Amino acid sequence: MLPLDLTKEFPATANAVYMDVANQGLISRTTWASIEPHLDNRLHGRNDEESMLEHVERTRTRFAQFINSDQSEIAITKNASEGINIIANAFDWRPGDNVVLCPKLEHANNILPWLQVKDRHNVELRVVEPDNGSIPPDAVVKAIDSRTRIVALATVTMVPGFRTVLEPISEACRHYGAFLLADATQSVGILHTDVAQLGIDGLAVSTVKGLMGLYGSGFLYCRQEWADRLNPAYLARFSVDLGNAPESAPVPSSVKLRRGAPRFDVGHYNFPGMLAAYASMGQLLEIGTAAIERSVTSLTKRLASGFLELGLPVCGGPPGRHTGSIVALGDTSALVGGRPVDDRIHSLHEHFTNNQVIVSARRGMLRFSLHLYNTDDEVDRVIDLAKIWLKQQK
Ligand SMILES: Cc1ncc(COP(=O)(O)O)c(C=O)c1O
Repeated sequence: MLPLDLTKEFPATANAVYMDVANQGLISRTTWASIEPHLDNRLHGRNDEESMLEHVERTRTRFAQFINSDQSEIAITKNASEGINIIANAFDWRPGDNVVLCPKLEHANNILPWLQVKDRHNVELRVVEPDNGSIPPDAVVKAIDSRTRIVALATVTMVPGFRTVLEPISEACRHYGAFLLADATQSVGILHTDVAQLGIDGLAVSTVKGLMGLYGSGFLYCRQEWADRLNPAYLARFSVDLGNAPESAPVPSSVKLRRGAPRFDVGHYNFPGMLAAYASMGQLLEIGTAAIERSVTSLTKRLASGFLELGLPVCGGPPGRHTGSIVALGDTSALVGGRPVDDRIHSLHEHFTNNQVIVSARRGMLRFSLHLYNTDDEVDRVIDLAKIWLKQQK
């Protein structure tokens, strides 16, 4: 059992089963309360900018701690796509370079930046086809060669929400000197993430899902050796080393970039977003990310097995290595646009909504995405509701 009073911290769970973190996470009461003093300062004209900037640095350190990196490897961003775009535009592309990705399983925000790189710099996109709902590591490895500059993939896909096996890909990237960029929007905060262990070079995240934070707030991890070599597409005061000069000091004639990933920071920060992320990560770290992962994956395995016993089409079949915090119902061919969405998926979605189970439909699949606030009882309730729906279909 997790050491939190769930209904007190997450009032949304009192009257509904919330299994929709892959869409939008819940914030806790603690997180909600963490923002108020700053808003109060703004309301009363008390300028807290200096202390807020110090707080941003504490949040940066906490982001780093959260994924086992160093604060000099963290840039503060608005969301995952900003992080992905920062990396995409910091490379000195040469015609004939290539980027490896699996677009059929990626979110649009991890496809569009690469289409732009392709058009602007005559770079080849090496498209890997999904294998039964997964990004196949062997096919990704096979696509990598000495002209591969970046491999961009989700740690966990938006749908069907399978984990990507990263180790062989990271090994191939190291061998060829390619940059492994992970879109970790669907995993950080829910599944334990250690960038050193995973061998990732970059990781882009928003705080709105597993990190239980606000919209318009995220971070980018960029391994120090890479960050020091990369050139930001945009510059502003917080991208450069100001030494002891105040932010308002005249701009020197030559630019000295900040060391590491903070060079990718641009203008002023989203202070409420940073306050929220600091507070929510505090709660997540107190429980422990490994413990959260254990709890959540045990719930998703229970949910997938329960659905399978009822004969429902669990994407990927029985739980296995691919199972993380998401269970999806539906046909994989609908997922890649090969088939129209099954009416039964609509009907089941409606049935759950009418019974206060909050889930979302994506690409023809019904997606159940879980976090630390979900429980065994909720999983059993969802399975019971599915049973009732099946009876109604007869
Ligand atoms: C895998 C993945 N990447 C990115 C996003 C969104 O990107 P951003 O945070 O930039 O809005 C989502 C969902 O909203 C997602 O599921």
